[in-house]
Amino acid sequence: MAFLEFKGISKGYPGVQALSDVSFNVERGAVHGLMGENGAGKSTLIRVLSGDQAADTGSIVIDGVEQHYSSVRDAFHAGVIVIHQELQLVPELTVAENLWLGRFPGKVGVIDGRTLIETVRSKLKEIGIDVDPAAKISSLSIGARQMVEIAKAVMVDARVIALDEPTSSLSSRESEILFSLIDRLRANGTVILYVSHRLDEIFRLCDSLSVLRDGKLAAHHPKIVDTTREQIISQMVGREISNIWGWRERPLGEVRLEAKGLSGSKLRNPVTFSVRKGEILGFFGLIGAGRSEMARLLYGADHRHEGSVSIDGVAVSPNNPKAAISAGMVLCPEDRKFDGILQGRSIEENIAISSRRHFSPFGILNPKKEASVADQFIAKLRVRTPTRKQDIVNLSGGNQQKVILGRWLSERGVKVLVIDEPTRGIDVGAKSEIYEILYELAAGGMAIVVISSELPEVMGISDRIMVMCQGRVAANVARADFDERAILTAALPDKSAAGTI
Ligand SMILES: Nc1ncnc2c1ncn2[C@@H]1O[C@H](COP(=O)(O)OP(=O)(O)OP(=O)(O)O)[C@@H](O)[C@H]1O
Ligand SMILES: [Mg+2]
Repeated sequence: MAFLEFKGISKGYPGVQALSDVSFNVERGAVHGLMGENGAGKSTLIRVLSGDQAADTGSIVIDGVEQHYSSVRDAFHAGVIVIHQELQLVPELTVAENLWLGRFPGKVGVIDGRTLIETVRSKLKEIGIDVDPAAKISSLSIGARQMVEIAKAVMVDARVIALDEPTSSLSSRESEILFSLIDRLRANGTVILYVSHRLDEIFRLCDSLSVLRDGKLAAHHPKIVDTTREQIISQMVGREISNIWGWRERPLGEVRLEAKGLSGSKLRNPVTFSVRKGEILGFFGLIGAGRSEMARLLYGADHRHEGSVSIDGVAVSPNNPKAAISAGMVLCPEDRKFDGILQGRSIEENIAISSRRHFSPFGILNPKKEASVADQFIAKLRVRTPTRKQDIVNLSGGNQQKVILGRWLSERGVKVLVIDEPTRGIDVGAKSEIYEILYELAAGGMAIVVISSELPEVMGISDRIMVMCQGRVAANVARADFDERAILTAALPDKSAAGTI
């Protein structure tokens, strides 16, 4: 029997119809997947469900009762809990305090601190989440914060839980904990709405699935077993994508980037490698393996203990990103949300403000050129927006990512591009466009270092892969020798556990 019903939901923003007449049902105890391209309306639907945004028309029915809530608090009392794409925790408070706030939104009760911490500690243990309840949120990794958010939803007896891209910053171990929590909730009859761009997860978790496209319901699959990946992809993007990777052989030139014996406080064992002109070198490893640290050392953002970096045979002075930039290196950081977005500025400005400009504020501005570059990237990366003048904060999560990527990919005169998690939060259609851009840049002679936690992606687009594990290089594999199992085994700290991932 249908437990959660969306009936004719529509929602518009200035210049954008985010949802049009969306109707579908979810059964009791079902995990229902929600997929769609960036900007298709997934988060908007979740915001309407959470009471955070009112629909223009339509209604939500839970267990046969039409809901008339007008705030997050009302939705909470109706048994609806939402974990948003952007985390909602209060960074200055402890884990325990945040969980307490989550139980009683809008009302901070008076409770003895020690009792609170102990109560939360035993709850977290019961749920299977390993975080210190006394730790401040600001001291936790993004993955750990996400786990606290999830604990918040599990600790109240919600009837409906919606998760908006919950695994985008979780390690595979954390994801497994989440998946088993979801299995338990399902067994208790909770309805789960699960938004993700990862088809593997969708097939692992979901019983049923809806696909949104341009704000409309493009497909509804009451039984996920009756559909296929290919079918879902074409329902999302409106065209067939037979090979998202599109890798092809490229002529490689001389060595462009050379790193010798690089070490820092988090990279205990020196790392040595080189990348040739036209080459795409993939760095694979589990979260925390040291890949981002390696990138930051390369770029001079972290303190280098030892080693040298050179571009085209010329040494790049250490600990100085400015020197790295003038030597022709750019780093597109992993956390583009934190590091990259100029809030309150347009898409156009966000693309045009490049790292170079940042360091030479008197660089020549050319508004016409900037507009055309912005339009080019909006088209290439399929950014869903009415105009390039749109404030970036009004874009969907994935479209913001694309704009920031556009900024780095549109840089001129770059010799070495280091790009961390290039397609996190980005839909399959746009992914293949991003890979195409990387191939074009490589074909132009750039040396590219791609860091990714997604094995299919690293294997799909790299000419060679370096595998990192616990701060050291565990393997260096040429494309002809790519083997999923071998790469994964090399990445695992406890090699004996290779079969468990
Ligand atoms: N406050 C807002 N003002 C204007 N437009 C908005 C606003 N919020 C969302 N939109 C637009 O509504 C559309 C749907 O956005 P939504 O966030 O629901 O997409 P999504 O499917 O969650 O995408 P993603 O996969 O990128 O997270 C987008 O075109 C977005 O730009
Ligand atoms: Mg979203």
